[in-house]
Amino acid sequence: MIKRVLSIETSCDDTSVAVVRHDGFVESVVSANQDLQHAPFGGIVPEIACRNHTLNLLPLVEEALKKSGQDWDGIEGIAVTNRPGLIGSLIVGVSTAKTLAQVRGLPLIGVNHLEGHLQAAFLKDDQFSAPADFTYPFVALAVSGGHSTVYYVPEFGRYEVLGTTMDDAAGEAFDKFAKMLGLGFPGGVQVDKLAQTGNPTAFELPRSLIKEDNEMMSFSGLKSSAARLIESLGPAETQKRLNDLCASFQEAIVDVLIAKLDRAVRVKKCKRAVITGGVSANSRLRARGQEWAQKMGVQLVVPPIRYCTDNAAMIGRVGVERLNRGERDALDMGPSPSSQPADFVGENR
Ligand code: KG4
Ligand code: ZN
Repeated sequence: MIKRVLSIETSCDDTSVAVVRHDGFVESVVSANQDLQHAPFGGIVPEIACRNHTLNLLPLVEEALKKSGQDWDGIEGIAVTNRPGLIGSLIVGVSTAKTLAQVRGLPLIGVNHLEGHLQAAFLKDDQFSAPADFTYPFVALAVSGGHSTVYYVPEFGRYEVLGTTMDDAAGEAFDKFAKMLGLGFPGGVQVDKLAQTGNPTAFELPRSLIKEDNEMMSFSGLKSSAARLIESLGPAETQKRLNDLCASFQEAIVDVLIAKLDRAVRVKKCKRAVITGGVSANSRLRARGQEWAQKMGVQLVVPPIRYCTDNAAMIGRVGVERLNRGERDALDMGPSPSSQPADFVGENR
């Protein structure tokens, strides 16, 4: 059995390295975010992202090892995100991981980033672990800057897509809305902060597809409505009502996300759920998720924020499990901007 892996995540703009044990215990996770480098452009610039991964990655490998208390002799495998993501960013992580695996003679495994988000529920550390009886099957809402999807997960490695967004991801909607308000990048967290003292019913905004009998989502109508609202208010009134605007926008997104998770739980008759991905850092989504779970008698796991936003620990968890199931990737493994067809099942994938 492989006892622990070193894992690497560079699929987007965060560089992250972790040392993760076979039982999901995170011995160390260290990350470098690039928000300052991308902020002047109002979004992620792929070439800046991969250049910064090159600068950050090997120092983080050293730091992750040191923090874990391990040296290279304690590392028995290498896991790396190799799909989906920005290709230049993935290339940095994949090339580094392959080199480390070759030089150390270690087994290598490429991991789907989204599977990482879904498996983050099973990570453990001194402060967090899911309830001991939390297991499969579960329903999951994975919401990030690039994805908003509801899954049914009957067992490790099987991810059934129940529904997904037809246009913008929830995080993308938060970021675009924040940009309209001049709140900087990434904007989700700013909207969350301002919304805390705002009135969520101050402005009426659309909840597209909320009543549809499926788990499909759409956030582009909400974005256009918000743009029209901001225009009609004008700059002075917009500034005065920032908190109410943020609270109303956030509430519209959270209403849709909870409604779709709720439907999935009912349709699948499944009393276990996970909310994960960068947007699950949102305080309103976390609070509403807990309220909903209590009301429905659903066992809900929302990993701590450090495992919800992009991180290498979740990649290590998937990697060590797959290596222990006998899976290996060869040194000619490549990065891919998209998932592989076999990664997910279901007609909406
Ligand atoms: O999972 P993640 O770190 O990266 C991707 O794989 O996309 O998600 C990043 C997204 C961004 O759109 C960011 O604005 C959003 O998560 N986000 C939030 C919050 N924190 C991060 N959205 C709403 N409220 C937050 N507190
Ligand atoms: Zn992500």
